[in-house]
Amino acid sequence: MTPDLNKNPNEISQMFDRVAKKYDLLNDLLSFGQTKRWRKVTTSIIAPKPGMKILDLAAGTGSSSEPLRKLGADVVSADFSQGMLDVGKIKYPKLKFVKADALDLPFENETFDLVTISFGLRNTNNATKALQELSRVTKPNGRIVLVEFSHPNQKWFRNIYFRYLVGALPLISRVISKDSSAYVYLAESIKAWPNQSELAKLMMKSGWRDVTWQDLTFGIVAVHIAFRSVSVFEPNSAN
Ligand SMILES: C[S@@+](CC[C@H](N)C(=O)[O-])C[C@H]1O[C@@H](n2cnc3c(N)ncnc32)[C@H](O)[C@@H]1O
Repeated sequence: MTPDLNKNPNEISQMFDRVAKKYDLLNDLLSFGQTKRWRKVTTSIIAPKPGMKILDLAAGTGSSSEPLRKLGADVVSADFSQGMLDVGKIKYPKLKFVKADALDLPFENETFDLVTISFGLRNTNNATKALQELSRVTKPNGRIVLVEFSHPNQKWFRNIYFRYLVGALPLISRVISKDSSAYVYLAESIKAWPNQSELAKLMMKSGWRDVTWQDLTFGIVAVHIAFRSVSVFEPNSAN
């Protein structure tokens, strides 16, 4: 079943269970190899170092976590799709995988130096709650690096890109994976997702301050960077 934009958590996790085995391959093909470049830029923004405690939320098969672990960071890769976790444990046996829902994280307050989420926030059915949970588990002054599909800035390019998303992408993915429903959902969810400045505003209301962002590939992807603000989860906080 194709999830709709209500993003029912059962349907979303089942969809990722179904695509898990071909997820990384399809990612590379459908982004024309851009995914690798996006990860390189993200890794340099995160600047992982030995001893740094990082939560990679919605880590899927761990492809977003592995570059951070390789540079010595202490990474926890959390996701709620058992299928994605199972593929990840085989692909990256050195990663620490944890089954977790973004809306109810099983971690103590102020655990991580940095939290990151790549191509995951859009799939939750409550982005505000997920951002607040991420803020809760981040140490004071810790950072978030949020990678997500966004809206290309140039109108002419945005039109071509959205046509590719809605028209060509599900067709190509059907040939490769025999199941295009996940990519129909992908296209629709990207179109409906807030643009760069709207997402920055949402972050500021959800436990983060000093939000900036960097566009990648003309704004197809944006990396938002922010610092944890005064806690939104503690009673009596003056956020
Ligand atoms: C597009 S994949 C991204 C995986 C990885 N971060 C990457 O960059 O390749 C999105 C992931 O978000 C996970 N996800 C979606 N909603 C979630 C939630 N509420 N809690 C935890 N994981 C979630 C899915 O299971 C899926 O593995």
